Amino acid sequence: MKLKNNPLALVTGASAGIGEASARALHAAGAQVLLAARRTDRLQALAEELPGSETVQLDVRDASAVQKALQDRAIDIAVLNAGLARGAGPIQEGDPADWDEMLDTNVKGVLHCARAVLPGMLDRKRGDMVLLGSVAGRQVYPGGNVYNASKFAVHALYQALRLDAGGRGVRFTTLDPGMVQTEFAEVRYRGDKDQAKAVYDGMQPLAPEDVADALVYAVTRPAHVNVGEIVLWPTCQSSTRDVART
Ligand SMILES: NC(=O)c1ccc[n+]([C@@H]2O[C@H](COP(=O)([O-])OP(=O)(O)OC[C@H]3O[C@@H](n4cnc5c(N)ncnc54)[C@H](OP(=O)(O)O)[C@@H]3O)[C@@H](O)[C@H]2O)c1
Repeated sequence: MKLKNNPLALVTGASAGIGEASARALHAAGAQVLLAARRTDRLQALAEELPGSETVQLDVRDASAVQKALQDRAIDIAVLNAGLARGAGPIQEGDPADWDEMLDTNVKGVLHCARAVLPGMLDRKRGDMVLLGSVAGRQVYPGGNVYNASKFAVHALYQALRLDAGGRGVRFTTLDPGMVQTEFAEVRYRGDKDQAKAVYDGMQPLAPEDVADALVYAVTRPAHVNVGEIVLWPTCQSSTRDVART
């Protein structure tokens, strides 16, 4: 699966997990990658492995910084992946600071990036915008509450983008994985490695490379084909609540 004409691919959250794997896979498929995240040391290390790539320190919650960094770049493929969960307790015990962080990153971060990148794509009448949603944006699970709400919102934004900007040459995709082994659980449990490890005990999650593979499939289809929604489950996971463990 190869990309034509060395397109410029933005990947937000490229310093870890799915974003890092996506950057590698897009580069291998023929893209020049623009690596965005807050941890620049990690971005620099990755850029050294991917000739022709660039890095940009970016907090997607900062609307003006996102606009400034991206508005003048002719981005062909935008992978809006930066995201996180904080905590897994019930709403009645939730911390509003965690809610702000999830909603500001997962929902408004997508909006800020789309606002900066989409006008150029529409002017050029081509481009791919891929949102990292989740099965958590399709099914709620206990303790998922605000994270679920943020990913349901991402699904709504995917549908809204199709309506607001559809039919003008740009393709929109929502890529919705089930459980993927990344730093996601460590971030969710604020560095508690035992709690994070327990998430994947006795089951085989997706690897970030599995998600990146689906992404590359979507963006390498002929221009008249838009892979709209991809739902990717680990085989042992039958819903957001049901995982077969050994
Ligand atoms: N892992 C799963 O099971 C799973 C399943 C479905 C969907 N997802 C979604 O997949 C996406 C990637 O998650 P992951 O599993 O790869 O987690 P991860 O390994 O923790 O990576 C998250 C990435 O997001 C970046 N990020 C977080 N906040 C940011 C901000 N404010 N500005 C810019 N970048 C930010 C992080 O970079 P810095 O900290 O360096 O900024 C990091 O590169 C998320 O949207 C997540 O919701 C994950």
